[in-house]
Amino acid sequence: MPSKTKTNDSESPWYLHFYNAIRQTPINVTLLIVSAFIFYKVVSITRRRNQSVQHRLTPGQGSFLTAENRLPPLRSDFTVRELRAYNGTHEDGRILLAINFNVYDVSHAKHFYGPGGIYPNYAGRDISRNLINFSVESNENEEFDDLCDLNSGQMATLREWDHQYAEKYPLVGKLLREGQPHTNYADEEDDEPEKITQE
Ligand SMILES: *[C@@H]1O[C@H](CO)[C@@H](O)[C@H](O)[C@H]1NC(C)=O
Ligand SMILES: *[C@@H]1O[C@H](CO)[C@@H](O)[C@H](O)[C@H]1NC(C)=O
Repeated sequence: MPSKTKTNDSESPWYLHFYNAIRQTPINVTLLIVSAFIFYKVVSITRRRNQSVQHRLTPGQGSFLTAENRLPPLRSDFTVRELRAYNGTHEDGRILLAINFNVYDVSHAKHFYGPGGIYPNYAGRDISRNLINFSVESNENEEFDDLCDLNSGQMATLREWDHQYAEKYPLVGKLLREGQPHTNYADEEDDEPEKITQE
């Protein structure tokens, strides 16, 4: 008799065991439902968080990469005044910003830098001081800012930000002093514009 039960047990499918276990102790049903609900919640929250993290980290990729966001690559240097025009109000919606004398194209992160975005004041500006100061105020300075008053800790912070932007956004060119010659990038079509690394 015991051996028969054993055989039955091992032959009956897993869900029957499961079913019997549940039937014998109704509290299991409650636990099962609660666990399933929690599991569902955790999965959906995690997925949502991952998506938003991904959006934050790679604003060029993913669901919101629309046709209007795909602009031809731009290679040029800019003075502070020239840069200002690229605040996303151009017809093509191009948005540029400068960090540590490097100009990046952040057009495809319109939800961040575009009009009505999270950081609309960054569009078309040198945001080096904003990043150091965690400030979202508009940088109204129209002159080239050589940042020479920054201490080494602030410069290190700035270079770290520069690094992060360089990984996420196309480098367009350099931020120039008024009157400084613009590099002709047409000749070096396949090369990245040389990055300035200010120590
Ligand atoms: C963007 O730049 C244009 C031209 O430089 C200017 O007329 C406009 O007011 C600026 N818009 C914003 C939101 O800064
Ligand atoms: C940070 O903000 C303060 C107050 O606006 C300003 O005095 C200071 O110069 C800023 N720091 C940098 C590095 O620009």
